[in-house]
Amino acid sequence: MSNILVLYASVSGNTEMIARIIIDSFKEKNIEFDVKVFDEDPIKAKDILEYDAILMGLYTWTDGELPFEVEDFYDGVSDLDLTGKVCGVFGSGDQFYDHFCGAVDIMYEQFEEVGATMIAHKVKVDMDPEGEEIMECQRLVEEFCELVGEIV
Ligand SMILES: Cc1cc2nc3c(=O)[nH]c(=O)nc-3n(C[C@H](O)[C@H](O)[C@H](O)COP(=O)(O)O)c2cc1C
Repeated sequence: MSNILVLYASVSGNTEMIARIIIDSFKEKNIEFDVKVFDEDPIKAKDILEYDAILMGLYTWTDGELPFEVEDFYDGVSDLDLTGKVCGVFGSGDQFYDHFCGAVDIMYEQFEEVGATMIAHKVKVDMDPEGEEIMECQRLVEEFCELVGEIV
């Protein structure tokens, strides 16, 4: 299997819970991966060029926007060429807000814009993952692995 990065931002732990489900799914499949966490690890956009495939998680802030700590990363991605790389995006939001999980859409479009092969399915979780949402996270890993097998 190609080298994989799971990258996420989480302030109150919900996106981290989604990331943990994804990480456990990779472990069950004996697939190796690296994990990087915004605000814990130094992360620059160009760092993702070391990987064949990236799964990125992020929560949504103020009117459907990106987390503050992801903004520089987002800007940096616009200078990259991610052709030949597989990317997927997941995140937590709150359906109370008009732009539910808007940051997931923003990041997804940015990866797509610079040529990444995107997993069609975005995972948007209302707060913390429960029931069907947990299975959706596991299905994301299935789709990711299938696409990585085809492309990379
Ligand atoms: C000030 C503030 C603004 C928020 N704005 C949005 C929003 O526009 N859209 C949304 O879906 N969720 C919004 N949320 C909800 C968070 O995305 C949600 O609580 C999420 O689960 C946090 O993820 P985390 O636990 O990984 O940090 C907002 C939360 C706060 C406190």
